Amino acid sequence: MIEANIGADELAARQLERLQWTLRHAYANVPAYTRKFDDAGVHPDDCKELADLAKFPFTTKQDLRENYPFGMFAVPQDQVRRIHASSGTTGKATVVGYTERDIDTWATVMARSIHAAGGRPGHKVHVAYGYGLFTGGLGAHYGAEKLGCTVIPASGGMTARQVQLITDFKPEIIMVTPSYMLTLLDEFERQGVDPKASSLKVGIFGAEPWTEQMRAEIEERFALDAVDIYGLSEVMGPGVAQECVETKDGLHIWEDHFYPEVIDPYSEEVLGSGETGELLFTSLTKEALPIIRYRTRDLTALRPGTARPAFRRMDKVTGRTDDLIILRGVNVFPTQIEEIVLRTPALSPHFQLVRSTRGRLDHLTVRVEARHDASSAAREEAIATLVSGVKDGVGVTVSVEVVEPDTLERSMGKMRRIIDQRERP
Ligand code: DLL
Repeated sequence: MIEANIGADELAARQLERLQWTLRHAYANVPAYTRKFDDAGVHPDDCKELADLAKFPFTTKQDLRENYPFGMFAVPQDQVRRIHASSGTTGKATVVGYTERDIDTWATVMARSIHAAGGRPGHKVHVAYGYGLFTGGLGAHYGAEKLGCTVIPASGGMTARQVQLITDFKPEIIMVTPSYMLTLLDEFERQGVDPKASSLKVGIFGAEPWTEQMRAEIEERFALDAVDIYGLSEVMGPGVAQECVETKDGLHIWEDHFYPEVIDPYSEEVLGSGETGELLFTSLTKEALPIIRYRTRDLTALRPGTARPAFRRMDKVTGRTDDLIILRGVNVFPTQIEEIVLRTPALSPHFQLVRSTRGRLDHLTVRVEARHDASSAAREEAIATLVSGVKDGVGVTVSVEVVEPDTLERSMGKMRRIIDQRERP
């Protein structure tokens, strides 16, 4: 089922049945789950309604690391058709696996996502998410094929050639990280090709946080609709949730396959609709790697559905607990800085956050490129505007360094925003 037409009662019944299956499957076939459930004193038979899920223990990245590489798999190896892995910044990679049916489910939810974004059979889809162990490229690829689109598997990198391919092949849709879309935008301009005149009608952007201000920037400079796609390897890959092009009001979660909860990350209590906290997912149909109450570390809130009424929405993810900078007691997410940078006319969307030590205190410098047409007076003014914007909006004092256009490192996939130069004792 590619389109998502389902009533609320039918969905709830399907979710419960699938949840009970998942809990039994995990308990019977993954020793780590058997142990975790036993330690918590719960058994799959204790799940009589959806709310009973709250009795079950969480799963974390640590569980996957401790069972590296295949210890969390619930099927024999000869049923695993594909492996993906996320590199992670520290320690071992997180390894995930898919059966043939899992790959088909993934393609279905991705096809549904591309459709919700405005993609239709016959459209050409330029996939500039990386192919390989990262789930972005192949996830998008299988979904676009399943929808009946023509896929252009460009992968990441070779930016000049990407622009050439877009100009020559005339895709309607592009799937790429928002930061790499900015890199492509620069390249259009460097080649003297008007991005507004390109064939692109829809951009499906995800794999990293991005703001409404960034949406406005990309939509305005390219003349396309920019929509958000969310997912993570441990739960499937891209296609867990998707923003609908007609409403652009957060991401509908494909809840017939992925059951969401939001908890307070400290008290670990389940939060209600509209309350922001850490997002958890339980897979409902996955065979190779069932995942129970996985702690994503992503911060969001759940809300009722709109364009797809049966499915709840999640707010755009503004940050992950890992990207949180605590500066003299104040929480700062890179997306908060992005919003303010993009409101400042002389500044481009290319910025980095440099953490350093001054005296014994942590210090944050926003290093940001000026726009090509910004005069030196406008740059000077931008520094003052940004410093006061961050002070008023976020509550911290930062330094601002405005650098020449085209001098900061460009993203080829997921953007590295934070540069840590702090002295370690
Ligand atoms: O990034 C899967 C993906 C590929 C999603 C392509 C969308 C498009 P991982 O490498 O496992 O998987 O990283 C997952 O990326 O927990 C979030 O922190 C972040 N993330 C993914 N999508 C979004 C988004 C892929 N739309 C981690 N907004 C997640 C904000 C996102 N953060």
